[in-house]
This record gives sequence, C-alpha cells and structure tokens, in this order.
Amino acid sequence: MREPVTNRRKFLGTIGTASIVVGSGVPLRNLAAGAEQKLALDGGEPVRTSLLGARPYGPQFYDDVEKQELLEVLESRVPFRWSRGPSSKVLAFEREYAAHLGAKFALGVTSGTTALYTAMAALEVGPGDEVILPAWTWYACYDAIVLCGALPVFAEIDESFDLDPNDIEGKITPQTKVIMAVHLQGCPCDMEPILEIARKHKLRVLEDCAQCAGGRYKGKYVGTIGDIGINSFQLSKTITAGEGGAVMTSDPKLFERAFRFHDFGTLHTPYTEALGGGLLGAFAACNFRMNEFTGAVLRGQLQKLETICRGLRRNARKVREAIADLPGLKLRKSPDLEGDLGVGVFLDLGTQERRDKFLRAMSAEGVSASAPGGSVILPTAPRIEKKATVHPAWPSFQSARGQAIQYGSECCPRTISILSRAGGVMMDPKFSDEDVKDIAKAIRKVYLALGRV
Ligand SMILES: Cc1ncc(COP(=O)(O)O)c(C=O)c1O
Repeated sequence: MREPVTNRRKFLGTIGTASIVVGSGVPLRNLAAGAEQKLALDGGEPVRTSLLGARPYGPQFYDDVEKQELLEVLESRVPFRWSRGPSSKVLAFEREYAAHLGAKFALGVTSGTTALYTAMAALEVGPGDEVILPAWTWYACYDAIVLCGALPVFAEIDESFDLDPNDIEGKITPQTKVIMAVHLQGCPCDMEPILEIARKHKLRVLEDCAQCAGGRYKGKYVGTIGDIGINSFQLSKTITAGEGGAVMTSDPKLFERAFRFHDFGTLHTPYTEALGGGLLGAFAACNFRMNEFTGAVLRGQLQKLETICRGLRRNARKVREAIADLPGLKLRKSPDLEGDLGVGVFLDLGTQERRDKFLRAMSAEGVSASAPGGSVILPTAPRIEKKATVHPAWPSFQSARGQAIQYGSECCPRTISILSRAGGVMMDPKFSDEDVKDIAKAIRKVYLALGRV
C-alpha cells in the first residue's frame, strides 16, 4: 500500500476559478491563473506533503503465485535446469514467454547483458564488424559490441529518446552488420523506417527491450519485430526476478547459435529435437544458463506482465490527458502511444535551466521528478571516450576505422540537447487515482509558474 497522503491541496479549488478544468479547450486567460499560485519552492503550500515516487513494479505484484513456483523448486531440491527435465521452470518460462510474445523461441539467460552477448554471438558479430547503437542507452549495449571485438558506432536519438531513424543511414559503412534498436524507457523505437533501412543495406536488427518488456509497436510485441530481441529481468524492469534475461527470435539458426553460445556450445533436449538435431557445430562459448529459482519467479511474474503494463499505460494516459491543454506543451513523442509502456510522462522544458527548475519545483510540491534516466549519454562516458578495453590489443579499435573513430560530446550534440531539456515523472502501475491527480496538479502548477517556453 502507498503511504497515506496528508494535507492534500485541492488544486482546482485553490486556483479560485471554476473554469480551470482538466481537458482541452481551456481559455489561456484562465490557465495563466495557475502562474499566480505560489510554488512550494518559494514558500507556497505543496500539492502534497509526502513525496510521491514510482517503485520497482514487479515486486509489488509478488504473491502466492511466485511463492508456490519457488517452493516447488526448493522442495524438488533440484535448482538446475538440465537436471529437471521436462518439469524445468526455466523451460516452462521460455515456452510461455515465447508464446506470449508470438516468437518461435525464447531463451532464458542470466541477465540482459549476457542476453546481449548471446544475441551478438547469434548474429555472428565479431572483429571487423560495426554495430550502430543510440548515443543514449545503457553501457551493456556498447560493451556487448566491444566484447565481441566489433566497433560501436553511435547515432543520435530523436524526441522519442530512441534511435533516430534519420541518423542511421549516414552511419552505415561496408562494415556495418547490425542496427541495435533499443526501446528506451518504455518507448518502442520507430521500427518501420529502421527495418526499411536494414533491408535496403542488408543489415540485421537487434531489438534491446530491456526497458520495454510488454511494449508493442503497431500491434507486435517489441523483440519480435527485428531478427532477434533481448530482455532484462533486473529489478528496475517491467517484470523481475532481481536479475535475469532472455533472448527471443523466430529464426531457428539464430536460436541455435544463441543456445549454443549460452551453454558451452552444446544443445539440450527438447531444443535438440526442435532444431532437427542441430545444423551448426559447437564452438567456444559461455555459461549464461538461467537457474530454476529465477525461472520460477519469472513464470509467476509473466502472469502479471499485462496487468503491470495496463496500470502504467492507464496512469500515464490520465496524466497526459490532464495536462494536454497546457500552452506550448511538448511531450516526449512516441511512434506508438498505444504500445508505449507509459513508464513516464516527459516534457520538453525548452532549456536545461528551466528543466532543472521544473525538477526542483516538482519535488518541493511532493512529486518526484527527474531527467530521463536509466541510461547514459555513452559517447561522453570517460571510459568510452578513451576507448578503454580489457587488453591493449583488443580488436575493436585496432583497424584504421577503429583508430579514427572519435567518441565524446561532438558525436551526439542533438542527443545531449534533447535530454538536457527533458524532465518528467515516472509512473507506477499502482499509483491511485489521487496520486495521478496530484501528479497532474503539480505539473500544471509548476509548468504554469515557470511561464511559457
Ligand atoms: C537498454 C538496456 N540494455 C541492457 C541492459 C542490461 O540488463 P541487465 O542489467 O539485466 O544486465 C539494461 C539494464 O539496465 C538496459 O537498460
């Protein structure tokens, strides 16, 4: 249960005009009255006195389902998948997850990061290859490319905070092999133009859905649109077992390579049979196998996935609707609002100074607000700018192209600019109607007090 909210201020009432209502078509004259409200930051009364903020979603939904699944593994005294045969929880999760998404195969692994390494291996990315990725994403995306000896090439994000399809073609060289489409902060990438570019240049598309499990694009689940997809089940993701990951594909060859890579080059029943005995040979690989406890919790969490997504979408939609009439409002764009997870409502606040004031003022009003998070502007990260690797002879940066490529802020000015102006509120699937109203009230009050962009 959420903390009870004390001393709630009735925002609409305190404005003192009945014509300020949530919805469209509100006269600007009345909207401007919001600016007369003294911000809590300046000593005014806050919208709420207890700070409202989102919490990790999955654990809020843990109940007897996960408990029972876990108990079964404990009582079996066999937490290792290959020792459990057809009653493996990981196997059940893989089948249920693949069926849920509409993919032929899903493979459980230890994390989203190892899922990325596995997907790279499946796509046969290696020394001499280049992979295009967004300048704003998580370290794992860059590291997975470098750790297989390939060269990361950054492209800008657009106002969706995802890879800008218009910045991809300029980054393609004869060495480019893969476009990494990362669905960031719950927003699906604009996959149609990305797939079109990939087809035109004969490139593969890897979808990183770590921050978008349950998201859809034009009716299809993300992770099933490109050649291969990955997911993370770490704590801050849509569903979680604390850690965990998955690789999804409908291509049997990609699946076989992924499977072999995650388990020392081997195949196992029932996948050996599903893959017709296996067409590819073994190769040097890893152990990224998911354990049965993780599989058990994820089986339970999968039953909650759509409830969590519905809650997030509902709350984000209500906030968006309640602020839609604000003058000059620029919300984060989404190529598919229906499929967007709605993990946050983000505004373009015009300048970094105005954004920073917005964040401070929102917190003072009792609503936690933040700059877009969960990712890093990677080209500006010191170790990336230095092209630091685990060994001086690492192949990624040995070629003439690898030596010539420059990272740093110069390679993503638009990404830096878009993110420096953006601020917003993260949603929680269990926010109450009152919570959602408070978020909208706080945004309205602060936005109007800051004045028009
Ligand atoms: C976009 C993205 N990809 C991959 C990962 C890696 O996932 P994990 O933390 O499960 O290794 C993350 C983690 O936050 C992520 O945000």
